[in-house]
Amino acid sequence: MFAITYLVLALVALIFSSVTAAPTTHSTPYKQVAQYTHPNFFDGFTLYSDADPTYGFVDYVDEQTAKDEHLTGWIYREGPNTTTAFIGADSTGIFPSGRNSVRLTSKKEFKVGMLAVIDLIHIPVGSGPGGSGLWPAIWFLSPEATWPYGGEIDILEYVNPTKESSFNAMTLHTGPGCNVDNTPNKYLGELTNGNTDCSYSDTGNTGSMGCSIPAPLKYSINGHPFATAGPDFNAQGGGTYVAEWTAEGISVWLFDRYNLPHDIHDQRPNPKRWSQKPLAKFAGKGCDYTKSFLPMNLIVNVDVCGSWAGEVYPGGAEACNEFAANNPEAYREAYFEFGGILMYQSE
Ligand SMILES: *[C@@H]1O[C@H](CO)[C@@H](O)[C@H](O)[C@H]1NC(C)=O
Repeated sequence: MFAITYLVLALVALIFSSVTAAPTTHSTPYKQVAQYTHPNFFDGFTLYSDADPTYGFVDYVDEQTAKDEHLTGWIYREGPNTTTAFIGADSTGIFPSGRNSVRLTSKKEFKVGMLAVIDLIHIPVGSGPGGSGLWPAIWFLSPEATWPYGGEIDILEYVNPTKESSFNAMTLHTGPGCNVDNTPNKYLGELTNGNTDCSYSDTGNTGSMGCSIPAPLKYSINGHPFATAGPDFNAQGGGTYVAEWTAEGISVWLFDRYNLPHDIHDQRPNPKRWSQKPLAKFAGKGCDYTKSFLPMNLIVNVDVCGSWAGEVYPGGAEACNEFAANNPEAYREAYFEFGGILMYQSE
């Protein structure tokens, strides 16, 4: 499906391979409840193969098709002796009515008091105009109520990734009555339009599309520039996103996967120990994070065009679909590669 070309991949650390972490004195409020790693990564997910609810130009395939067509699978590296999981869009065929792609839904649900450690080696990028109209996402969605009443938490989401303009936008969608504080000193991004209302409404000019905090374009870790999405994210060898959802709010951090805080590396995460500021923190008394957000599934998908990426594609949605149908080679890098995903709940 793609060529492994990154020099940096030779350096891939064996971050999640050791299930028996070294003994440590770190205290953690969290207990590990799910581990999506080789060889069990895909066992924890089902493949969603219905129509894309966000009107993308994709055909989400079932488990067997994904395996047969190499849209899901493993990447083994001999040097570090690691096996990682990938999911991506097709990069070989012509698809007049929607490019084959993958959307995973976790079998488990996660509730408030949740911490997710998402170790990414590669994220989807496209070599065509406007990043080939890609719209990848890692997010949480509640199956317990009609959208948006059970809530949605978008951890990593970006459209049309090109080198010049790629950043992650973290977003909440809820029913009415969830308003977050606008306290930019507590995180690094900036609330879009200063909009604190996380509810979704498409009626009239008071409508909100959710509350969103895009990461700063110039993010840095320890003084070094660090990309939050797009081609530069892959060139730097990936990154580890961490999301926490408590009764007090929802935060998203991005760490250098080669230089993780020790407690995360040792699988005893304790956010109170981290000196790095989150990219986003949705908090404040204007929202009940235990009621606006019900138990959720983890979802990972690689969408193309559709109601966001299509609209902002150069030339618009029709041009996006046309390109996506006919240019398979522009999707050779349209895949997620995971070192692993570890899920924790507080007791
Ligand atoms: C590679 O890793 C696997 C699984 O962790 C282990 O069983 C195997 O012994 C390792 N091989 C080498 C050469 O270290």
